[in-house]
Amino acid sequence: MVNIYTLKDVSKHNTKEDMWVVLHNKVYNVTAFVPAHPGSEDILITRAAGKDATEAFEDINHSELARETLEQFMIGQLHEDVS
Ligand code: HEM
Repeated sequence: MVNIYTLKDVSKHNTKEDMWVVLHNKVYNVTAFVPAHPGSEDILITRAAGKDATEAFEDINHSELARETLEQFMIGQLHEDVS
């Protein structure tokens, strides 16, 4: 069973202590990763926390390693009718 979340659900998790993010219609709980982000934790909090950060993520050409790192944090998918 896949968990389905709306952007409203995701937006409630927008802090350093509890951070979800949407990338390519998948929802990730990246709380544990925030302090380890090579691009700084601040940039994640201000640009990605509780949001769809697909564009910001792709803008800097993240590596395959970054994409693989993400997999362990996936918690579900974005509701397709809610933008
Ligand atoms: C939440 C998912 C994310 C993961 C797992 C992640 C992971 C990483 C990793 C592993 C790197 C090292 C370089 C590489 O391997 O590509 C990196 C660098 C970086 N990330 Fe992210 N990132 C995420 C989201 C973001 C977002 C949303 C932004 C922008 C708003 C961002 C901005 C940056 C920047 C600017 C660097 C470059 C740091 C430098 O080269 O000095 N990241 N990220």
